[in-house]
Order: sequence, then structure tokens, then C-alpha cells
Amino acid sequence: MSAIAVVPGSFDPVTHGHLDVIGRAAGIFDEVHVLVVHNPDKAALLPIAQRVSLIQQAVVEAGLPDNIVVTSWSVGLLVDYCVEVGAKVLVKGIRSQVDVAYETPMAIVNRNLSGVETVFLLPDPAHAHVSSSLVRQVAGLGGDISPYVPAAVAAFLQSTS
Ligand code: PNS
Repeated sequence: MSAIAVVPGSFDPVTHGHLDVIGRAAGIFDEVHVLVVHNPDKAALLPIAQRVSLIQQAVVEAGLPDNIVVTSWSVGLLVDYCVEVGAKVLVKGIRSQVDVAYETPMAIVNRNLSGVETVFLLPDPAHAHVSSSLVRQVAGLGGDISPYVPAAVAAFLQSTS
């Protein structure tokens, strides 16, 4: 039986930090599903389908392995998707103690709901300061986001600003 892990997030947009975690997960699990989920607590910049497309382009651009599937989920709980595809593990990237505090309650609730465990991976510290919300802010004010995001994302955001 192949071990499937789901890497969920809003990915609005995907950053180098996200890609780092996706690549690490792809080296551990047989199959990795990168799942774009709407986060109602955040004001969205990109439509979900655009985020999926940019992640797909970024995965190819970064030369990540082909055991990565990129898709989205908009109906019900995140763990419903995990049950549907037979994934027993969620993977989250942890940049700091702030992320630990944010992720821990969700990890426990997701486990209580379904038995799905959450594995925390540490990205390269070079990405510790990078977040999608900062990228959205810098891009919105006309700044250079190219150090923080894959080239496909920088090109797309530049073309729409
Ligand atoms: O990248 P983000 O915005 O930090 O990702 C947060 C996300 C989308 C993973 C989180 O909001 C989430 O898990 N949403 C799914 C809704 C759900 O299942 N909630 C109940 C368990 S926490």
C-alpha cells in the first residue's frame, strides 16, 4: 500500500518556502497531494484554479519529483479529502513557534475527527521569513517579490499588476 500525504494550504500564492516543504514531503512519502483550500480567515488574492496552476508550474520549474499531485478541495472538511484518497498524514511546514501555536490545535482537531496525523517539517531557515501574506502585500504595493516566489508566480503577478 502506498503512503499518501496531503500538504494543505491556501497557497495564495505559493512561495519558495511552500515548495521546499512540498519537495521534502515528496522525498518521504510515496505520493504527495498538494491541496489548495480556501481559508475564510484570509482575504484572497488569486482564484483557487489559478493557485493550482501556479503550483503545478512551480513544481515543474523546481524539478520536483513526479509523485506530486496538485488539486483543490472546497466541500466539507480537509480530513474528508484525506479519507477519500486514503491519506493518513497531513504535512505542514513550521517556520517558528508562531506556526507551532497556529498549527497545533488544527492538528489535534483533525486527528480527533478522523485519525489523520499531522507531521511537521522544517523548511530551510533561508525561507523562515517568507509568507504568502507578505508576498501579497509587497506585490500589491509594487515591490519586487521575485526573491520569495517561483518565477512563474512572479511573472504572473507582475503581468496582472
Ligand atoms: O495556508 P493556510 O491559510 O495557513 O492554510 C490553512 C488551511 C487551509 C490548511 C486550514 O484553514 C484548513 O485546514 N482548512 C480546512 C477546513 C477544516 O477542515 N477545518 C477543520 C479542522 S482544523
